[in-house]
Amino acid sequence: MTDTLPTDADREELDLLLHGFKISRILRLVADLRVADKIPIDDQVTVNDLAATCAVLPEPLLRVLRALAAVQIFQLTPDGRVAHTPRSRLLRTDMQNSLHHAARFWTGPGSWGAWAKLDVAMTGGIPHEAAWNMGRYDYLRQHPDEARIFDEMMANYPDNRHAAIAAAYNFSAAGLIVDVGGGNGAALRHILTRFPGTRGLVLDREDVVGAIKPEDRMEGRIAVQGGNFLDRVPSGADLYMLIRVVHNWSDEDCVRILQTCHAAMAPHARLLIGEEILEPDPARGRPTSYLIDLQMMAMFGHARARTEAEFRDLLE
Ligand SMILES: C[S@@+](CC[C@H](N)C(=O)[O-])C[C@H]1O[C@@H](n2cnc3c(N)ncnc32)[C@H](O)[C@@H]1O
Repeated sequence: MTDTLPTDADREELDLLLHGFKISRILRLVADLRVADKIPIDDQVTVNDLAATCAVLPEPLLRVLRALAAVQIFQLTPDGRVAHTPRSRLLRTDMQNSLHHAARFWTGPGSWGAWAKLDVAMTGGIPHEAAWNMGRYDYLRQHPDEARIFDEMMANYPDNRHAAIAAAYNFSAAGLIVDVGGGNGAALRHILTRFPGTRGLVLDREDVVGAIKPEDRMEGRIAVQGGNFLDRVPSGADLYMLIRVVHNWSDEDCVRILQTCHAAMAPHARLLIGEEILEPDPARGRPTSYLIDLQMMAMFGHARARTEAEFRDLLE
């Protein structure tokens, strides 16, 4: 603990954090307009031309870009030209692990509405249900635009987990992998590209697998199945994966998901769980990890990020 008095810099930094929601919101605005894709990667464009391409007025666009430029997202010249910065390039859809989808998602209406009701979590309520009178996945089923942005965000997450998992584990012995809650199949595409003798099956909610395009199924090597992993998981695979699924659920629900996986698995089959492990000491952890934990609180109430000790307890 320190009893040092706050400095002017502390005041400035805290004040900026208090404005944080405005930055998230205007990032969604520019991502919805695809501003980053419309600025040449190594050149400038006038704000007037950019506004015309986006079909918006130059003056409000300029004000939005000016606020972002103050936090090094885009740069503006005094004569009204705009160019990229390293940060704004991350918003281009052609960047690997583009943050374009995340920019559109976090303040998208469903998430935004749930955060407005965050207080109810303090007395055991579920903010998303307080905001929308329905669970998160029912909401996504009824709002396919937001649901597909969610799927894309998961496939392009900054943790780069799908490529990392494909590189970290030897999948060559697995003839068939079931990705349980596998989203739009991104993890399997990474794995099957590295391991040509392997096939995959994505199990996810009906609307999620229904949106996976035939060209993303690797010429039939990836099959899809709509279903509910709380009730049943397909049998017959050599390997099962739960990637970023467990943190969406309470301990009781996690046990149920693990039991349905176990019931589907032959004795030789393996289960891989891919999750971020929460650092118990916030002074050492990444701030976004604790914010994702709160996203789980806002969306699902009892869902949570877990420390290594909590994962061990859960799995035991
Ligand atoms: C946080 S996402 C992770 C997606 C993917 N595994 C990844 O790593 O990108 C959780 C996934 O679980 C799926 N899901 C949620 N409830 C489900 C259920 N009851 N049955 C099957 N899938 C479900 C969601 O649709 C979503 O795709």
